[in-house]
Amino acid sequence: MGPEEEREVIDTLRSGWITTGPKAKRFESEFAKYVGAKRALAVAHCTGALHLSLWALGIGPGDEVITTPFTFTATAEVMGYLGARPVFVDIDPGTFNINPARIEEALESGEHKRVRAILPVHFAGHPCDMDRIGAVARQYGLEIVEDAAHAAGAARHLEGRGMTRIGTIGKLSCFSFYATKNFTSAEGGMITTDDDKLADRIAVASLHGMDHDAWKRYDKSGSWYYEIHDTGFKYNLSDVHAAIGVAQLKRADDFLKRRTAIARAYNDAFRGDASLQTPYSEPGIEHAWHLYVLRLKPETLTVGRNQFVEMLRARGVGVSVHCIPLHTMHFYRKNYGYRGDEFPVAEDVFSRCLSLPIYASMSDEDVAYVIETVLDLVRDNRR
Ligand SMILES: Cc1ncc(COP(=O)(O)O)c(C=O)c1O
Repeated sequence: MGPEEEREVIDTLRSGWITTGPKAKRFESEFAKYVGAKRALAVAHCTGALHLSLWALGIGPGDEVITTPFTFTATAEVMGYLGARPVFVDIDPGTFNINPARIEEALESGEHKRVRAILPVHFAGHPCDMDRIGAVARQYGLEIVEDAAHAAGAARHLEGRGMTRIGTIGKLSCFSFYATKNFTSAEGGMITTDDDKLADRIAVASLHGMDHDAWKRYDKSGSWYYEIHDTGFKYNLSDVHAAIGVAQLKRADDFLKRRTAIARAYNDAFRGDASLQTPYSEPGIEHAWHLYVLRLKPETLTVGRNQFVEMLRARGVGVSVHCIPLHTMHFYRKNYGYRGDEFPVAEDVFSRCLSLPIYASMSDEDVAYVIETVLDLVRDNRR
């Protein structure tokens, strides 16, 4: 957070308008420009964005949505809100993204007769193979809703379109501006789409189903009267949050450059080590580097991943693990009958992975300290 964020927030506080209003509108139009989408709708969080998107497509009780188990629970929990079911398929061992071949298998198996949509997650900021996912979706008449929580600023080369920013490929794309994301509005989310009808419907639904500009009802020019047009949710983004988002968005490309430089430094340092596996980037992508996911090769080490994480933490390196596969979690086993051992690639990646610190304000000294500490620990614990 810098002086620009402070200025925007103070400007909003002093404007006398703190909830959804002109700053949220500005955040929408600037974000739409940033990703190249026709419409952008600011919402309270990506979870709400995903919920509204599936709802707007008419997904309801008994429907199925194909997604990855290697994600945060928000991706799949929203399906439950609508009475729909997450159909998990395994991931690609290189990119950690949903594997299009597994999507095809699930559809060809005949076991899933109610699939309505595919919900790919651009994990860690590496864009999914959207050409192949798009082809499968067209073949089976399915919608695509992208979970782009990690992928603001990422891009992928598409057949016939060239390099394309995430946010304009699927029917609807959902972004997160949660505090840990590449840029933030403290809490916040955005839906982008080129479909005006869906955008209009979501704009109304995201604020109680009231007329589109009902927020203006407190304005001098506004009317006290409002009509309820549709199902309503309370997913609007306040202007205080949008103010932070507007300021951060201006710095998003600089943040991304710094993250990319840190990821390169990690790659260069760890690539040659026999006990480490660096993340794979497909050609023709621009990675958002939301996470830097390093994998251990446990057969070469005397300690497991959990111990390695604890040792790094003990030496002051704030590592974490992303993600715990959803099909192994109590709720998904109980509610949807997953056993916890169906997706060997996701399970293998999870058992060996850890996320190293990566953020725009990270100093060169801190990057060097992380590299040195990881390499030290590997050397000290080599089998
Ligand atoms: C892949 C993924 N999807 C969705 C979300 C939900 O985002 P939010 O916290 O903005 O609701 C997250 C949050 O971390 C996420 O990692």
